[in-house]
Amino acid sequence: MSREIWEQAYQEKTDWWGRRPNHVLSDYQSLVPDGRVFDAGIGEGRNALFFAERGYAVEGVDLSATAVERCGQLAMANGWHVNASTADLRGYPLEEGQYALLIFSSILPFFHPEDISCIIEKAKKALQPGGLLYINVFDRDDPSRAKAEAACTHLDAHTFRNEATGMYHHYFSEEELASLLAPLSTIYWSSSRFLDLTHGEPHEHSTIEVLCQKEMDE
Ligand SMILES: C[S@@+](CC[C@H](N)C(=O)[O-])C[C@H]1O[C@@H](n2cnc3c(N)ncnc32)[C@H](O)[C@@H]1O
Repeated sequence: MSREIWEQAYQEKTDWWGRRPNHVLSDYQSLVPDGRVFDAGIGEGRNALFFAERGYAVEGVDLSATAVERCGQLAMANGWHVNASTADLRGYPLEEGQYALLIFSSILPFFHPEDISCIIEKAKKALQPGGLLYINVFDRDDPSRAKAEAACTHLDAHTFRNEATGMYHHYFSEEELASLLAPLSTIYWSSSRFLDLTHGEPHEHSTIEVLCQKEMDE
């Protein structure tokens, strides 16, 4: 069901999250080793295209066929290559030890905690030595939480399921994220509250954003 919700969103509007990559990814691009980049929930490709332009072999998946198609068109129009496909991240196999960078931009809060653990475990195994993992998530103070609490089934104190859409809404703590990401080393860790101007009416978010790295000798 959540597939239809995302698909409908992209059919109604283009450039949902803007064209600029997340600033942490562009600021630290020089640390990303040569190789393969995987973008989970690639959307219209703002992060994937940034790395494709810089010569990385970029692939990604998204539930929305419209988003994937738009990403492919933008890549082609610029002469870059992105291998984007329509698939559910939860069942998507990631080859172990193969990736220079894995991107999870604004996607993990939409999964059940058990799926989040499995996805992060799979991601840690998929990193090559020295490879980077980028994640941003909503934290427990995110203003959208009040709406989720009111409209959804409470699965635990910080996880909600919207029975009408089938979507999960999970709100992270810093301790939880640190434990999921261990033993990766931290390059960037930030907890912030900001006004989001990328889509819809201006609205506030409270997020945790992390860039971490697999040791060279793991
Ligand atoms: C908030 S958007 C973020 C898009 C993009 N990562 C960005 O930062 O611009 C979340 C994206 O995750 C995708 N998505 C949600 N659940 C998914 C799943 N189970 N498998 C693959 N993609 C999924 C949605 O279709 C949507 O494009």
